Amino acid sequence: MTLRHFLDLDVLSPTVLRGILDDATARKRRMKLGQHEAPLAGKALALIFEKPSTRTRVSFEVGMRQLGGHTVMLSPVDMHLGRGESIADTARVLSRYVDAIMIRTQDHAKLLDLAAHATVPVINGLTDRTHPCQLLADVMTFEEHRGPIRGKRVAWAGDGNNMAASWIHAAVQFGFELQIACADAYRPSQAILDWAAERQGRIVVGDDVRAAVRDADCVVTDTWVSMSDTRTDGKRELLEPYRIDAGIMALARPDAIFMHCLPAYREQEVTSEVIDGPRSAVWDEAENRLHAQKGILAWCLGAPTT
Ligand code: CP
Ligand code: NVA
Repeated sequence: MTLRHFLDLDVLSPTVLRGILDDATARKRRMKLGQHEAPLAGKALALIFEKPSTRTRVSFEVGMRQLGGHTVMLSPVDMHLGRGESIADTARVLSRYVDAIMIRTQDHAKLLDLAAHATVPVINGLTDRTHPCQLLADVMTFEEHRGPIRGKRVAWAGDGNNMAASWIHAAVQFGFELQIACADAYRPSQAILDWAAERQGRIVVGDDVRAAVRDADCVVTDTWVSMSDTRTDGKRELLEPYRIDAGIMALARPDAIFMHCLPAYREQEVTSEVIDGPRSAVWDEAENRLHAQKGILAWCLGAPTT
């Protein structure tokens, strides 16, 4: 049987992605009604974190527990992976103990290597290239606030980083327009832009943040300096024009929301006035990591969808 890896949005079909979101939404609704369920009873999830995490770590731990399963938290210092055991051998061994593996790592190739050698589903919990779990929570949050995302306009401002890459994937897979504003030196990966262009994705990349946010239904940004970012010389100065403030938000649609995957750096990529203001959906977005994670876990492990 083909393993249900959750590696990236571009390698899963729109039908699968929509199914995961629908399931996550249904589970969220039932949880709010106080209904408990344990479709993953007896299942174990290994969580490998080679980078820090607050949201991904807690939402996977709590989400797996709420589905009846349990987690094993691993960091490189606790494992032989951190002192030279290969990722392939780690994959083979962990697959004998647990039912799924989530990894957060710098090098995307390491994620793919893990998936190639694991005999259980592997989940991408963020790499230097992408952050697909976050995007499911983001689409879920957008739709809770503004209805179906298909045909809507999202503006991304700042660094063309791993989050920008997953927004590009999502724009194609969920059928919305993405206006990206970034400094030339920090454009998103050309390979991912080419992938989107081949699929007639409505992605525009420019350097004018005001043009990008005009009439947007949603304005998104992220930290200017990502974890393990090495190209930081002068980066903050170059990205200064891309800060989201009230003046920029005023150019978006009157009902536009603001989103940010967090952690945020106030007065850098976004002002306090915006992130703490009435149009900010960031706390719902953070909460939805929990619900989206449950949809992902249920799909990977073949729990009956509801
Ligand atoms: N948004 C996100 O992935 O947050 P963490 O780094 O805290 O997991
Ligand atoms: N772009 C950020 C996202 C953090 C969730 C990083 O990679 O550090």
